[in-house]
Amino acid sequence: MQTVPQRKLTVVGAGYVGSTCAQLAAMKELAAEVVLIDVLEGRPQGIALDLCQSAAVEGFGARVVGTNDPADTAGSDVVIMTAGRPRKPGMSRSDLLEVNGAIVREVATYVRNLSPEAIVIVVTNPLDTMVSLMRHHTGFPARRVIGMAGVLDSSRFSWFIAEATGASVQDVDAMVMGAHGDSMVPLPQYCTVNGVRAGDLVGDDAMHAMADRTRKGGAEIVGLLKTGSAWYAPASSAVAMAASILNNQQRLLPCACLLNGQFGFEGLYMGVPAVLGENGVERIVEVPLSAEARAQMQQTAGAILNDLEALRDLDLM
Ligand code: 2OP
Repeated sequence: MQTVPQRKLTVVGAGYVGSTCAQLAAMKELAAEVVLIDVLEGRPQGIALDLCQSAAVEGFGARVVGTNDPADTAGSDVVIMTAGRPRKPGMSRSDLLEVNGAIVREVATYVRNLSPEAIVIVVTNPLDTMVSLMRHHTGFPARRVIGMAGVLDSSRFSWFIAEATGASVQDVDAMVMGAHGDSMVPLPQYCTVNGVRAGDLVGDDAMHAMADRTRKGGAEIVGLLKTGSAWYAPASSAVAMAASILNNQQRLLPCACLLNGQFGFEGLYMGVPAVLGENGVERIVEVPLSAEARAQMQQTAGAILNDLEALRDLDLM
């Protein structure tokens, strides 16, 4: 029998994103113990029990523990932070700054005290500011606090390209950098179908239209659902990052990292291509950018700085 690695993965927030993360992590046996924590009494316990009762059918050996007590998260190797309110139709991610900022600050405090060696993946919106806030309140080195968004935005772009080209999505690679918001920077120049430039297959106008749909990809789903935001693709994306870290896969994944001069930015979290391994962010990869993409990166940095300013005005940072 294969053994499940003796590691601990905590998922904070037992909403749709968090419970799907717990399910994927358990099914992929990323850790022997997957802890699902939420402030709502009974919910994480109920979801954990339900997931454990799927283990015999699915054949996984990970144990899922549901709890309301931060003490149960102690000694986690990886923490995926999903807790927070989702958007409703008409809201921007920035509208969640105050309510979700307070939740991130509280979680950061117990992660710092109880799991001082953890690598934290932040999913809570507005992503680029919440990951800064998590870093600020944990005091962890930047390589151990990472934001999930680029994997999701790139995966959305990949899906649109697969649909437009008729190619298998498995052959599509797409890249999105910048903020997780309307100012994100999809990079058609780095989109390929098994090595062939996607723009050569569908034309540049179609690529620009798909880039634009990607920028609004989260809002499109919020508009359809009406009561919340996406969860399957966000959870898959966060768990792909956790897998690269826990299994030291060294995958090159776009994610929000603290920049230290890369791409011309200093002291700012932003979505960039990074190699993720057992140390968290192993390195940031500075890919060449067109003049248009560089201008878009300036714009996206401006949007993140505005949200950071608002966070300081709220005394959260
Ligand atoms: C999204 O883009 C939830 O921000 C997430 O769907």
